[in-house]
Amino acid sequence: MIFSEILIRWYSNNKRELPWRQTKNPYCIWLSEIILQQTQVNQGLPYYISFIEKFPSVFDLARADESDVLKLWQGLGYYSRARNLHTAAKYIVKELKGAFPNNYKDLLKLKGVGDYTASAIASICFNEVAAVVDGNVYRVLSRYFGIDTPINSSKGAKEFKALAQELIDKKKPADFNQAIMEFGAMQCKPQNPDCNVCPFNKGCMAFNKNIINELPVKIKSAKAKNKYFNFLVFISEDGKTVLEKRKGKGIWQNLYQFPLIETKTNVDINTLKPLIKEHNLIKGMSFKLALYNKDVVVHKLSHQHLHTKFWIVNVNRLLDQGISTNEIHHYAVPILIGNFIEAFNF
Ligand code: ADE
Repeated sequence: MIFSEILIRWYSNNKRELPWRQTKNPYCIWLSEIILQQTQVNQGLPYYISFIEKFPSVFDLARADESDVLKLWQGLGYYSRARNLHTAAKYIVKELKGAFPNNYKDLLKLKGVGDYTASAIASICFNEVAAVVDGNVYRVLSRYFGIDTPINSSKGAKEFKALAQELIDKKKPADFNQAIMEFGAMQCKPQNPDCNVCPFNKGCMAFNKNIINELPVKIKSAKAKNKYFNFLVFISEDGKTVLEKRKGKGIWQNLYQFPLIETKTNVDINTLKPLIKEHNLIKGMSFKLALYNKDVVVHKLSHQHLHTKFWIVNVNRLLDQGISTNEIHHYAVPILIGNFIEAFNF
């Protein structure tokens, strides 16, 4: 049997029943693929269900407020993906009159849709022979064929795409693509795969050379930068606090956060106090300051490590309208802030 036959047979015996496997609706597939780029199936499933429930069609998503879309996305991270989904939905409704692009080339024109997503939608919904290459595919192919080209190099991207395109079942591209991803997720796992039950073990280069753990190869990226965040959780006597909308570009664009003082190092209460005194929300007023988290919370992003402290600032009143602490749950916030809000229980 050839590679694709073994793979598709494995898939039909082992695949998980998932809601996006019951449909060929490109809107649903698009949504599931964008969510699954962000997280694993188990974590992504509840997000998919909520999105489909709240926005059953591309028209519903296009009509939504961005803040509602971000709120539903909360916890997944990489909020630009949610903003791009929303932008693309508006484009499909407005410019394409609601007609979802139905081929790889046109799908690529959607904001946030690259080679992977366009290939996934084109193959799953429209039977186009376009091979997907995601982390699972890199792992399966690098191991089976013993390829050590770094997967995060442009040479690697080209090499693996070409190989996947050669291997894809030309009659069953939808099954092949889903099968290779599912196989990577469930059988050819990153850690401790059970190669003894693998249908590919006879021909697998990595297994036969005992180098499963060395593949795929990835070039180490530059060291993450440390940043020091001090969030000011104002609490006034009339039950108000302040959330600010983050402006400008960046991962948290348009999300809300407590007023932030960024410092060059980890600071203690004595260093921070004079900085807060000057803050235009309470200028000249008296306040009580306390550190909420004795241990710094380190939030790791791809290129930054955010060393975060939450400071409780009790004040009489605020020089800002503020928001009622009862309403704080309505705001879309980064997960770092969301976890604090949950724990603090205003
Ligand atoms: N991971 C991301 N998309 C997938 C799909 N369509 N099938 C299996 N695993 C996936």
